[in-house]
Amino acid sequence: MSDASLRHVLSVMDLTADEIRRVFAISKDLKEKLRSGVREPLLPGRTMALLFEKPSLRTRVSFETAMAHLGGTTLFLGADVGWGKRESASDFTQVLSQYVDLIVCRTTAHSRLEELARYATCPVINGLTDLSHPCQALADLFTLDEIHGPLEGKRLAYIGDANNVARSLAICCGKLGVELAIASPKQYSFDREFLDRLARNVPEVKLLQTEDPREAVRGAIGVYTDVWTSMGQEAESVVRRQALAQYQVNAALMELAPEGAVFLHCLPAKRGEEVTDEVIDGHYSAVIVQAANRMHVQKGLMAWLLNAID
Ligand code: CP
Ligand code: NVA
Repeated sequence: MSDASLRHVLSVMDLTADEIRRVFAISKDLKEKLRSGVREPLLPGRTMALLFEKPSLRTRVSFETAMAHLGGTTLFLGADVGWGKRESASDFTQVLSQYVDLIVCRTTAHSRLEELARYATCPVINGLTDLSHPCQALADLFTLDEIHGPLEGKRLAYIGDANNVARSLAICCGKLGVELAIASPKQYSFDREFLDRLARNVPEVKLLQTEDPREAVRGAIGVYTDVWTSMGQEAESVVRRQALAQYQVNAALMELAPEGAVFLHCLPAKRGEEVTDEVIDGHYSAVIVQAANRMHVQKGLMAWLLNAID
């Protein structure tokens, strides 16, 4: 029997703008409480499975820590549980859903995550797929809001490969009224299928697509980049390094952004490729607070999704 109240977060598209703002408000409150030493146990006794098929530092540890602060427990599930190998995906997921209240999944193809969500009887959160990284984009916009809010009408620049992180940023920016100016070489820009889906689901989106990084950073409150070769694309790294060589975020590019613009990166970074040491370690770099906010925002997301807050 399907449960109509069951919600998954596979993409930022699964959240309305009001829901994102609500998650941010809860996250902000929990972040402030933690600063004053209060760890509110909003999810006592709840259990979360982290089903991960790719490496992770931030996503894994920030989810585990967030759940611990909220009074719940995490089970980290690696390859040995045999998802789709020891038994059918349907049996696996239905059984796992009997034990846990929430599944956070990091996997390869997005279709694999969709299949998990189809059989799950508890909420599923996307911890990164080839298509998207919604928790990252939520933390990124939360970070920008802390530094440069209110965000509506402002511009974020993204330089480089139009990958999973960039897609989630485009959706989140669109929902929150932020213009995303993305500079990529043609072959690594958003594909037509994604652009159509974006226009259909987030008609209010404001997207500037250019091949010129200098045009993108003009007037931006933040300059964002990510690796040129994502996990799973290692065989393409030489070709990608060549194609994206002109898309490095360096001090000369940062100088073209307005005073006060911050540098953002989801991390891990490949220093010397998409970003120089000088920029990532520069006074305008917000990458550490951005990484820290993964925990605060996921805490807000879990508390909201599991109905721990009125
Ligand atoms: N940004 C991010 O998701 O980092 P990890 O791959 O370390 O989880
Ligand atoms: N685009 C990167 C993000 C890592 C957090 C990847 O998919 O490897």
